Amino acid sequence: MANFLAIVLLFLILAFSCADSTNSSSHNCILTPNWHMFVINGLSNEVIIAHIRDEDGSFPKCSHCPIYPGGFVSWYFCPIGRWYYGDFTRGSTQKTVQLYSKHIDNFCGHKFLSGTEHCYWLVKPDGFYVAKKNLSISDPNWSYESPWI
Ligand SMILES: *[C@@H]1O[C@H](CO)[C@@H](O)[C@H](O)[C@H]1NC(C)=O
Ligand SMILES: *[C@@H]1O[C@H](CO)[C@@H](O)[C@H](O)[C@H]1NC(C)=O
Ligand SMILES: *[C@@H]1O[C@H](CO)[C@@H](O)[C@H](O)[C@H]1NC(C)=O
Repeated sequence: MANFLAIVLLFLILAFSCADSTNSSSHNCILTPNWHMFVINGLSNEVIIAHIRDEDGSFPKCSHCPIYPGGFVSWYFCPIGRWYYGDFTRGSTQKTVQLYSKHIDNFCGHKFLSGTEHCYWLVKPDGFYVAKKNLSISDPNWSYESPWI
């Protein structure tokens, strides 16, 4: 029984230390895959400003950082029920998008127990798209998720 409790405690410590690590490698998540999320600027000549955060606004992965046309930002996380949001500014337009949600977990995830899940967001003039792979910007297989306004 003592051993069992020790293992549970160790699991909890590892899970929480993983949750707070912003640059986890693919070995850091326990019984879950590591997620690698990308946001690509698919606008041809406009910079977007991205603020990437979790639900309570802590641990911003990218605090008001510019993403240049064709460029991207990315971060790693363990999928332990903490959702992620991006607040995006393009000129005078602002939009908040839930970048990691139950829906996106289902869309991009393979339900692996380890390894790395990849998920790509593409920002275009008409809105936000998602794909499991880094498709080319003009590929019609990007899945449309939400408009800018
Ligand atoms: C974490 O990742 C960010 C952005 O990818 C990078 O700038 C930073 O140096 C990394 N920190 C560590 C400790 O690896
Ligand atoms: C996606 O692929 C293009 C080449 O098609 C490459 O230039 C770009 O850096 C890649 N982006 C990411 C986030 O891997
Ligand atoms: C889009 O996806 C479908 C199904 O996976 C595939 O058959 C098709 O070739 C893809 N189209 C392009 C342009 O990649």
